[in-house]
Amino acid sequence: IQVLLICGGGGSEHEVSLRTADFIQRELARAPDIHLTRVTMNGDGQLLDGDGQVRELRSDKLLYSASGSAQVVDYVIPSIHGYPGETGDLQSQLEILGLPYYGCSPEASKICFNKITTKLWLSALGIDNTPYQFLCADTPEEIAQAQDALAEWGTVFVKASNQGSSVGCYKAATAEALENALKEAFRLSPYVLVEKCLKVRELEVAAYTYEGELVITPPGEVCAPEDTFYSYEEKYAEGSRALTHVVAEGLSDAQLGWIREASKRAFIGLQLKDLSRIDFFLSEDGEIYLNEVNTFPGMTSISMFPKMLQHQGHDFCTYLGGLIRESVQ
Ligand code: ADP
Ligand code: DAL
Ligand code: MG
Repeated sequence: IQVLLICGGGGSEHEVSLRTADFIQRELARAPDIHLTRVTMNGDGQLLDGDGQVRELRSDKLLYSASGSAQVVDYVIPSIHGYPGETGDLQSQLEILGLPYYGCSPEASKICFNKITTKLWLSALGIDNTPYQFLCADTPEEIAQAQDALAEWGTVFVKASNQGSSVGCYKAATAEALENALKEAFRLSPYVLVEKCLKVRELEVAAYTYEGELVITPPGEVCAPEDTFYSYEEKYAEGSRALTHVVAEGLSDAQLGWIREASKRAFIGLQLKDLSRIDFFLSEDGEIYLNEVNTFPGMTSISMFPKMLQHQGHDFCTYLGGLIRESVQ
């Protein structure tokens, strides 16, 4: 089976996408029937091979080199966090080409990547999520509303609606910090959220399809240091002080049941496919909120998705190999 692994992309998570692709490449090297070709998408949407030569995927489902030679593509892995992978844009092209691919549809990807549409869908599905305010313009009226929210909530998180890996996500406790955060967030996105800052435990669930069945793992936990949050640096930089635990300790049966049910409802309701990581906040007062649905979760050395699969006893190569074989047969 000829599989095309597309990584990189034109967004702020380019580097993280390469790290996820390294993991996928290593895992699939153990599948004797799968032949992988890796290309990196640059900021202009061009596909480059390992020698930096442009390759092109055309409507005949062949991958062309600059010299005109071509190879068959049976299946595509869009290993891109953020634009244009996790946003669903690349998946739309693959739909048009009629090529099967790993992961969620264009529509589910788009809904879940945008933090505001995610919240609208979660509310429509009856799943609790963090209180927030929606800003669609950088105007004095909207900023005044955000300042009111800060006065009510004490501390807030400002988030660009269209980023991941904590890019465009700022904690603000003063009017001045809020103003700066809004400026930065509006630079990245036309839509911005101001969210109530909760003192939380961060719980993450892997939800995926294994041998035709939906698997929801028990939650794992990520612990950011007390003096910050789970920022880009704490996620990926050397010397990060964040800790991850594949199993979250001390949750009641009721809490575990709630998280499982909400994850299942989100996976089915949003019509997700193949994989996702669903992240929750457990607040100090015991409330559980669904924070976000990641349709293409990170698979770097610190990432929870592959760890949770492994802990569930599911070998990643068997899992992804199975999805590939099922799609192309
Ligand atoms: P991303 O999609 O970039 O991962 P998140 O919404 O998950 O964005 O926010 C990134 C991090 O910011 C979270 O993992 C958490 O540490 C912190 N955070 C975000 N929102 C809140 C909140 N409302 N209360 C407390 N911490 C938050
Ligand atoms: N967006 C990053 C890769 C994650 O959520 O895992
Ligand atoms: Mg997150």
